[in-house]
Amino acid sequence: MPPQSNTRPKIRTRLTDLLGIEHPILCGGLMHLADANYVAAVVNAGAMGFISALTFPDPKQLGDEIQKCRDLSGGKPFGVNLYISPRQDANDRLEKLLTVVRNEQVAVVETAGGNPGPIIPYMKEAGIKVIHKVPAVRFALSAERAGVDAISLVGAECGGHPGYMMIGSMVQAADAPQKLSVPVILGGGIGHGSQLTAALAMGCDGILMGTRMLVSSELQAHRDYKQRVVEGTGLDSIVVQSKLKNHHRVLDNKTARAVLALENEGRENYEDYAHLLSGQLAQEAYASGNTDQGLLDYGQSACFAHAIEPVETIITQFMEQAHTAIEQVENLSRRSISS
Ligand SMILES: Cc1cc2nc3c(=O)[nH]c(=O)nc-3n(C[C@H](O)[C@H](O)[C@H](O)COP(=O)(O)O)c2cc1C
Repeated sequence: MPPQSNTRPKIRTRLTDLLGIEHPILCGGLMHLADANYVAAVVNAGAMGFISALTFPDPKQLGDEIQKCRDLSGGKPFGVNLYISPRQDANDRLEKLLTVVRNEQVAVVETAGGNPGPIIPYMKEAGIKVIHKVPAVRFALSAERAGVDAISLVGAECGGHPGYMMIGSMVQAADAPQKLSVPVILGGGIGHGSQLTAALAMGCDGILMGTRMLVSSELQAHRDYKQRVVEGTGLDSIVVQSKLKNHHRVLDNKTARAVLALENEGRENYEDYAHLLSGQLAQEAYASGNTDQGLLDYGQSACFAHAIEPVETIITQFMEQAHTAIEQVENLSRRSISS
């Protein structure tokens, strides 16, 4: 069926109002991948995207990337992803990057990892919204107390870091809106528009996608890598680093198996794993298309990615699926009223 969501009524939520976007969709930060081209394609398709700051560790480079995104997106709001490491020594670069983000006055930051509390006033003073991403409601509650504008909540299905409690998205979706006052965005395993409808029905204000977007034509990655995602089933994602209490859902490949082998030997020191965890391996894999190497964040929603396509096509199809699901539920309730 051809995409037709531009003829559909818009779905308006607290998230679309907060960010001034057309669809209640966030496309989360993608380390080494989410650059100006990709993020501009996302915002031009009516969703919200985030440049991954740590992909541009030199502040001047990040500033240039933000400027490029501004040019490509014609003034539409866009965001930056800031990963706050639980390891203080790994956050040295973060302060300088924060200054760039603030000076450039992007619309919104997506924080993840450590406590966003200390940076919230710094961002708010510049009129920048903060959405914090967490893997469990209990972390969401403390981020809400610290003053974030919205919460992204990811379930165990997600590519990247599902948290050590590994709570499923279906549980998060129904639980979080009961306990939080700020808008809630559901992530983890989302790749079909009917899941947006379900999330909204459970009280969420929008959804977040990562893995589903890995086949976007605009993403700067080798075609063989994207083709691997197209061929993926989602059953080919595994969780590694649980021994380090840093659960990480990635593509099942040689590096992931090597990490698991060390875990099975009972190794608990980061140093034993460092040569396998290096981000450079992943960066090279995206560039070369050799998906045997590197810990490549990858979630169960790969099952929804059937082709390498422009972002606009993915988002339009997704919204069409959401509207179809709304109709299905409306028909169900009409049928039960008439019977
Ligand atoms: C390849 C890849 C790279 C990612 N890099 C980051 C990152 O740098 N920072 C971050 O906060 N989240 C990162 N994530 C997580 C996504 O932003 C998003 O939270 C997650 O993918 C949502 O779950 P899903 O994969 O099931 O859609 C990454 C995910 C993927 C698939």
